Amino acid sequence: MSPNNLRTERMDDTASVYFRTPLSSADPDVAALVASERNRQHQHIELIASENVVSRAVMEAQGSIFSNKTVEGYPGARYHGGAEIADALETLGSQRACKLFNAAEVNLQPHSGSQANLAVFSALLEPFDSVLALDLKSGGHLSHGAKANISGKLFTIHTYGLRPDSGFIDLDKLADMARANRPKLIIAGGSSYPRALDLKAFRQIADDVGAYLLVDMAHFAGLVAGGVLDNPVEFADVVTTTTYKSLRGARGGMILWNRDDLSRSLRSAVFPGVQGSPLLNMLAAKTVGLGEALQPSFRQYAEQVQRNARALAGQLSADGLSVVTGGTDTPLMLVDLMNLDMDGQTASDKLAAIGITCNKNLIPNDSRSPATTSGLRLGVSAMTSRGMVEADARQIGSWIADCLLGRTVSPQAVRRDVKAMASGFDFY
Ligand SMILES: Cc1ncc(COP(=O)(O)O)c(C=O)c1O
Repeated sequence: MSPNNLRTERMDDTASVYFRTPLSSADPDVAALVASERNRQHQHIELIASENVVSRAVMEAQGSIFSNKTVEGYPGARYHGGAEIADALETLGSQRACKLFNAAEVNLQPHSGSQANLAVFSALLEPFDSVLALDLKSGGHLSHGAKANISGKLFTIHTYGLRPDSGFIDLDKLADMARANRPKLIIAGGSSYPRALDLKAFRQIADDVGAYLLVDMAHFAGLVAGGVLDNPVEFADVVTTTTYKSLRGARGGMILWNRDDLSRSLRSAVFPGVQGSPLLNMLAAKTVGLGEALQPSFRQYAEQVQRNARALAGQLSADGLSVVTGGTDTPLMLVDLMNLDMDGQTASDKLAAIGITCNKNLIPNDSRSPATTSGLRLGVSAMTSRGMVEADARQIGSWIADCLLGRTVSPQAVRRDVKAMASGFDFY
């Protein structure tokens, strides 16, 4: 058979079907689920603090041709061929991240926030070294040394907590714990701590005991990028973040630092330490998101997020709910249900029935288990991306308080109002 015949045989209809058939015809089952999820997001008010709504451009980059490319290593030193364009992409993304957060170096490859944290642990520590982190029950994160996480199995974890009277981090106890346990690493930041961190105090405590300071800014990175909160990169030895919460980019993680002496170990801790090849399509989408965060309009977004969060927390309190610490500086807040005789699961189910999506969450001194909890975590990053402002946040706060305090006469009628409001804001 001649090479020409071979080509004719291969270039049959199957190939063009493979490359040209859209999802709707190729897999109607999945296409229908995508359409349903799109409608759900459009018609509900999304208050899950770890969510946001990415731009069409970020979405497009995620589904781009970079999905096909495999590289290992870093720009200029890849294991696989054909990496020149991938190199240009990763270099561009890294330049944008460094500019945005005023950092000397960044690693954009972590597949998630947890992977970023694991890489930092393995770069800075030896097994069984001691770490001091915010207790999970007080708002810490699983990847900061929880028993169920690999970080809690490999390292010796000590935890600090909150002041029982205020719900703010107890810096005095933190300093005592640091002196008593001499950790090699102190972690600031968490998944449900609503207040700005006292970065100067954390730095001082870490210096006093000769510990590294890691700030995990996952929840408030967008407010740092928008100039609303202090930049942890100026205080910490290493900063980790997710890229998809308030930063409003693609799903994934990122590590930033200024210290030259840590560069080698941080780079090799990500690859080959805890990961293989990066998800280049996600790296492309992260790069688009970082470009957006460098625009002046992102500053307005970040400022609006903080105003919306404060408006929502204020309304919840005014309408009779208890908000941990009395408010928030970040995109998220915690509602304390302890006095309502209602657990977090029941509360989030009730809100789901009126079209408001959020998650149950442990609160300080919670008497219930993580499966039920006595709190709710609410975040405003996603609703702000839809275009909602303070008046909307206040309306949502009233709906939530009425629902949880048993003042809603007709949940069906409120569901209709919520749907009308959510659907009225622009979407894809
Ligand atoms: C503070 C913090 N760090 C890390 C993570 C982990 O991110 P991922 O779920 O992408 O692993 C989260 C997730 O919500 C978080 O809140």
